[in-house]
Amino acid sequence: QAVTILREFEEKCGTPISKLKQVADAMTVEMHAGLASEGGSKLKMIISYVDNLPTGDEKGLYYALDLGGTNFRVLRVHLGGKEHHVVKQEFEEVSIPPHLMTGSSDALFDYIASALANFVATESEGLHFSPDRQRELGFTFSFPVRQTSISSGTLIKWTKGFSIDDTVGQDVVGELTKAMERIGLDMRVTALVNDTIGTLAGGRYNNPDVVAAVILGTGTNAAYVERAHAIPKWHGLLPKSGDMVINMEWGNFRSSHLPLTEYDQALDAESLNPGEQIFEKIISGMYLGEIVRRVMCKMAEEAAFFGDTVPEKLKIPFILRTPHMSAMHHDTSPDLKIVATKLKDILEISNTSLKMRKVIVELCDIVASRGARLSAAGIVGILKKIGRDAVKDGEKQKSVVSLDGGLYEHYTKFRTCMEDTLVELLGEEVSNNIVIEHSNDGSGIGAALLAASHSQYTEADE
Ligand code: BG6
Ligand code: GLC
Repeated sequence: QAVTILREFEEKCGTPISKLKQVADAMTVEMHAGLASEGGSKLKMIISYVDNLPTGDEKGLYYALDLGGTNFRVLRVHLGGKEHHVVKQEFEEVSIPPHLMTGSSDALFDYIASALANFVATESEGLHFSPDRQRELGFTFSFPVRQTSISSGTLIKWTKGFSIDDTVGQDVVGELTKAMERIGLDMRVTALVNDTIGTLAGGRYNNPDVVAAVILGTGTNAAYVERAHAIPKWHGLLPKSGDMVINMEWGNFRSSHLPLTEYDQALDAESLNPGEQIFEKIISGMYLGEIVRRVMCKMAEEAAFFGDTVPEKLKIPFILRTPHMSAMHHDTSPDLKIVATKLKDILEISNTSLKMRKVIVELCDIVASRGARLSAAGIVGILKKIGRDAVKDGEKQKSVVSLDGGLYEHYTKFRTCMEDTLVELLGEEVSNNIVIEHSNDGSGIGAALLAASHSQYTEADE
């Protein structure tokens, strides 16, 4: 019976508050371990070399390149300083042909560099202040990178849908710079940042209370502001600000408390990166639809849910994308019309009964709620680590967490569930001091801001 399969799955996906608290605690413990030593935890807790977040004084024309999913964006940001803030921002979104995501490093970076060159060519005359001044770029590269400085770092591994062997271990700024040289584009990368770091910087620019940033998109990850002296593995100078931003790479978090099912195990085993990014694989947009598909497959195979044969399309991995799942999950029509349409258009399954469609909606709800509730637990883990999970002496100190990513932006039920769970976990009083803020495209602006604050030119040159 399909319903039996559904109920068993639901039970295994359970995230009662007690479990979420264990997950939050485990996150805090792993954060400590990852900060203590290199390789001390599944959490890499990468030192970003960002020890100064934007102040608002940043001025000038900067470019940013945001590479993180199937699309990448090139941006031109004109920063006007304290009074004017972002004067103008233009961007262009370019999709990455799938074959480049698993091809060669040169091919990928050549493609990016030429899109960047095309975009630079659209710059209006007079905007770039001095002809002998090199254009500067903030590079948001949303993969785990071992930073060697603010403007260099080597790729540890690819995640999400990328897998290009010859980039691993290379300096990604070097790769981009070589590609730019090959086509004669004169530009210098002055800041290399993860999307979480860019989002944190962009968020802080607008709100000084921002303490952390979380991405819920194709992948998932978080960054936060740590006190430098609380990072035992940091042997550099203590920054003047006393702070250091940490890219947690929480997608790779793993704990015995995570509710994992046979479907998650199979998905992982057949993925591009088996054994890795386990937290990401049960939370993020790249995988949620795929988990739903796998459960549907089982219902078809073992309970003849869609008739005597398993629908051919249903056997294709990743055919059911999270946006499709979201559309079905949000279907409020009495006869679940949208569910029927999606099943027909994407999976070529027709003649479903209302009862069957209800099962599908419930399935979407189970998968989305588990992901949303676990991401809330992750956020609580961070708040605990920085001591913002309790109200001290009636203090009203606000802690703002900047959120971005397609899953957060477009999957309303996911977002609401995540936010409700945060309140459930923290309690009303503490929750009043915690603000979740959507930092729209903050990471591009954030990268431009960091490019500005690490410019090779001093203010006197301006
Ligand atoms: C965007 C950010 O809004 O969200 C990117 O600007 C980030 O830097 C992205 O990588 C993540 O979302 P998605 O859904 O595109 O993976
Ligand atoms: C993946 C990447 C990480 C990124 C996240 C969100 O987890 O490894 O670097 O921040 O996706 O885009």
